[in-house]
Amino acid sequence: MANNLLKGKKGIIFGALDENSIAWKTALKVHEEGGKIVLTNAPIAMRLGEINKLAETVGAEIIPADATSMKDLENLFQKSLELLNGKIDFVLHSIGMSPNVRKAKAYGDLNYEWFHKTLDISAMSFHRVMQTAEKLDTMNEWGSVIALSYIAAQRTYPDYSDMGNAKALLESIARSYGYRFAKSKKVRVNTISQSPTITRAGTGITGFDAFLDYADKLSPLGNASAEDCANYIVVMFSDLTRMVTMQNLMHDGGFSTSGITDEIVEMLYEIKSE
Ligand SMILES: NC(=O)c1ccc[n+]([C@@H]2O[C@H](COP(=O)([O-])OP(=O)(O)OC[C@H]3O[C@@H](n4cnc5c(N)ncnc54)[C@H](O)[C@@H]3O)[C@@H](O)[C@H]2O)c1
Repeated sequence: MANNLLKGKKGIIFGALDENSIAWKTALKVHEEGGKIVLTNAPIAMRLGEINKLAETVGAEIIPADATSMKDLENLFQKSLELLNGKIDFVLHSIGMSPNVRKAKAYGDLNYEWFHKTLDISAMSFHRVMQTAEKLDTMNEWGSVIALSYIAAQRTYPDYSDMGNAKALLESIARSYGYRFAKSKKVRVNTISQSPTITRAGTGITGFDAFLDYADKLSPLGNASAEDCANYIVVMFSDLTRMVTMQNLMHDGGFSTSGITDEIVEMLYEIKSE
């Protein structure tokens, strides 16, 4: 049920790769709530061609941009201003990639060139996006910028490897840039820490099924879906959350504050009795 929460608002959504992507579901919800969008992804991701279907459904233009390239980002923001007829109100950074995770490198055997890439693509790009947006004066006052994080920023998940470090940096950038953007433009900046979700990025992690299942059992409400996350992002883009900034917002069905649940106890008894 749409409530026109984003009527008259315009923005950029990074990271819709296929229909499982959190960014994809968000684009659909933003459109449903009356928002206008420019879609963007890395030029290499365009080859899949899936994004064209989404663009058609939500009436959006697509502007390719590698989030590690300042030239691409400047072009993206400049063109978006033209396409959307003026300044924008929201940005979703839904980007993550670690070559070390992809190639299942152990944390004690990291390739440092790849580690740099992980940090650049998954965290520094968030700074690049905001710095470009601010320098080109592209954001309306009370705009909202969101990036997606994971609880591996606070707790160690061995197979999440250097992505945990990237998420810690991402959340730190949200606080530092959030301060700056609030002062300069009244723009708010937050990260949403999402439950494990079945997407291209998610399933690239060794043992993903196990921690998806474990998180589901340790969350009193169960894991939050990509669609639930999209709904939360819409609320964070709306005027209903104008005073929320510099936060890491847990969107995890209660996982992060649960010690143990009946489901975990049952699971442990089952294992013991086998
Ligand atoms: N899936 C999960 O379990 C989960 C949980 C918590 C947080 N997240 C975060 O959510 C975000 C979105 O991931 P997703 O799960 O929807 O997976 P996804 O694979 O659908 O999205 C990741 C996106 O990052 C894009 N990307 C990679 N390198 C890029 C670059 N250089 N420039 C621009 N874009 C680039 C990819 O093309 C892709 O669209 C990521 O930040 C991810 O870490 C995911």
